[in-house]
Amino acid sequence: MRATVTRFVDPAETEPVDPALRPRRLDEYIGQDRVKENMRVYVRAAIQRGDPLDHVLLSGPPGLGKTSLANILAEELGVTMRTAAGPTLERGGDLAAILTSLGEREVLFIDEIHRLNRAVEEILYPAMEDFHLDIVMGSGPGASSVRIPLKRFTLIGATTRSGMLTSPLRARFGIHAALDFYSPAELKQILVRSAERMRLELEDDAANELSSRARGTPRIANRLLRRLRDFAQIEGDGRITLALTRRALERLEVDQRGLDAMDRKILHTIGFRFDGGPVGLSNLAAAIGEEQDTIEEVYEPYLIREGLMQRTPQGRALTSTGAAIVDFRGAGLFGR
Ligand SMILES: Nc1ncnc2c1ncn2[C@@H]1O[C@H](COP(=O)(O)OP(=O)(O)O)[C@@H](O)[C@H]1O
Ligand SMILES: [Mg+2]
Repeated sequence: MRATVTRFVDPAETEPVDPALRPRRLDEYIGQDRVKENMRVYVRAAIQRGDPLDHVLLSGPPGLGKTSLANILAEELGVTMRTAAGPTLERGGDLAAILTSLGEREVLFIDEIHRLNRAVEEILYPAMEDFHLDIVMGSGPGASSVRIPLKRFTLIGATTRSGMLTSPLRARFGIHAALDFYSPAELKQILVRSAERMRLELEDDAANELSSRARGTPRIANRLLRRLRDFAQIEGDGRITLALTRRALERLEVDQRGLDAMDRKILHTIGFRFDGGPVGLSNLAAAIGEEQDTIEEVYEPYLIREGLMQRTPQGRALTSTGAAIVDFRGAGLFGR
């Protein structure tokens, strides 16, 4: 049973994003209006004062546009951006080397910033707070600390788990922006633009259908569009019509609500194996054969947001809507 589930809407970055589809400027960044308008103000104000932008923490589920927004901020600030991934910064020296190489007002983007280890994180504190490194020389009573000044830079951190950030780190970000799932209308705009860039004929009703079945996530919308292009090219006349879209989504096991096979498996397992819950995350993960982190970071946010499941102090449980879909007390809608 396990590991046989196809995950066409897995929001994790498992294929390279088409760079042509990535928005470059704030004006091309669709949705997230409140975040966008505030950022516009902060960027203009920083430029006017000749200051670096305050440190920015971007949080939200995978595929909602954190990396894109970081790139856009650097672009709007007119500075270069260096990128590092939290888990790859193993030693304090790795980060210190990057920090000392940054120029005035430049941006350092650290992805998955909740995965920094302690030693690395402690380098960041004085760097973020007043732009210097404290390097300890020697050890024991003879140890001394050397202060190395840094250029005034902006740290942009991205995380799928803002709750996992330590409070000293979180406190050093002046700007917090939480990205939310996109509405179908916003996803449609993104899809129409992507189709133009890919020189695809995407019919209006097909765009509507796809945008309501893309799990509120731009990355998934674009990924499904690429698969639809394949089906249209091989099994159609190249145009993406409503009929083709429905057929392809069926083949991709994406249902009416945009749920994929893994989403359904999670709901189904809570229903049939655990009588609707509550069930602890570790038990649920074991029953499904999936990592706890993946369930928590990738799948659960959307299922909760759609009102299909909930987190209770006792564990995960189906809501009444979720229970009605799974129908675990009746015939079993998914026929399992
Ligand atoms: N607001 C947006 N407007 C247009 N396209 C977007 C937007 N947000 C994300 N995308 C698209 O989705 C893809 C994934 O976004 P990304 O920034 O990599 O997400 P994250 O870093 O949060 O996982 C981008 O390459 C881009 O094509
Ligand atoms: Mg990213």
